[in-house]
Amino acid sequence: MSDLSGKPDFRGAATLTFATPPARFDVEVDLRGHSQPIDGRYRWYGRIRPHDELDAFMAECGGRNRSGTLRTESGEGAVTVSEVDFWGRYRLQGAGMPPYPVDGDSGETESGDSGETDAGTAPVSDAADALDRAVALMEPDARASVELSRGYAELLGGTPAPSPTAASRAMNNRVVASIYEKLWRPAGVAMMGLGGLSMTAERDKAVADLRLSGDMTVLDVASGPGNFTKHLSTHLSGDGVALGFDISEPMILRAVRDNRGPHAAYARGDARALPFADGTFDAVCCYAALYLVPEPFAVTQELLRVLRPGGRIAIMTSYGREAAPVRTLLRAGSRRIGVTMFDRDTFPSIFASAGMTEIEQEIRGLAQFVSATKPATEPATGQAFGP
Ligand SMILES: C[S@@+](CC[C@H](N)C(=O)[O-])C[C@H]1O[C@@H](n2cnc3c(N)ncnc32)[C@H](O)[C@@H]1O
Repeated sequence: MSDLSGKPDFRGAATLTFATPPARFDVEVDLRGHSQPIDGRYRWYGRIRPHDELDAFMAECGGRNRSGTLRTESGEGAVTVSEVDFWGRYRLQGAGMPPYPVDGDSGETESGDSGETDAGTAPVSDAADALDRAVALMEPDARASVELSRGYAELLGGTPAPSPTAASRAMNNRVVASIYEKLWRPAGVAMMGLGGLSMTAERDKAVADLRLSGDMTVLDVASGPGNFTKHLSTHLSGDGVALGFDISEPMILRAVRDNRGPHAAYARGDARALPFADGTFDAVCCYAALYLVPEPFAVTQELLRVLRPGGRIAIMTSYGREAAPVRTLLRAGSRRIGVTMFDRDTFPSIFASAGMTEIEQEIRGLAQFVSATKPATEPATGQAFGP
């Protein structure tokens, strides 16, 4: 992967053409890209500086995503033009050979002059760039339909999240989203009796358990307002990205507002069907969520599926105690609000039967932390997860 955080690989003039209806535009673009570690394909992406005629054309065509060809002095490539970002720039995405030299031998490549400041020539912003890198990790279908105009990747077409329980209703409430990081989560931690583990220590534990560094790709599932995602992202560099993934619009909007960064981006989708190919991420995190989702084992299966061989997973979920009367009481109370209490063995044995190694469990009050490493090769038999 290239280590050009914030700098385009190519900046300059290009010609954008469409076949139907036929159209041609001379545009100024910022482009960058990298090879995917999994499939080895080169993915490139970028922005077109504001362009009135292109605006009019896109509006006339009425389509958000249009396929065309982008040509520069050094080459051409098939490109998808999607919607404008906050600064009025159309987003571009392509796969395969990019329309610029990838080895840095162009005069414009890696020029590093990112000091332009007016709106029309502003450098690609770091946060928008992190979002592009995250979108590049998605399956082609998801990339084609994703909507990016609000600063995150919307994968559910704006459909509201299902809220069948009191707990899920809370997670989809704007007020809860706005106080979640500072008040709600710390109160929850106190209630779960995490034995003096501060928020900072809990975040550091996630970083250590996931063994984060450099240009790793990290998926933070059920990321809420990004309270862990942002912290995970600060341990990455280069093209590394931590993608917070959550189903709640208020939570994601809050994450975009409070916790974006050069290595942190967000997507709204359903963790029961993650839009990533098998083995996409170097690390997968899922804190304080498996006890809230209606199908925790389907989600666990997805977490393991998208983790690359040798990658690390870290979860934090509920622990329902061993003593039968306490357990019964806890289970009855939590079921009423839509929270599942898990026992000590459930996740370590799911991980073990998936062939995971280095399984570690730490129990603190009503919470358990479980981390593990995905085997380098798949276990011999297919796995059905669940107790
Ligand atoms: C308690 S918050 C956890 C936030 C953060 N990970 C933390 O540790 O503080 C649980 C999150 O799970 C999300 N969630 C619930 N069901 C989900 C699903 N099917 N897909 C994605 N996110 C989901 C909720 O929207 C909520 O933001």
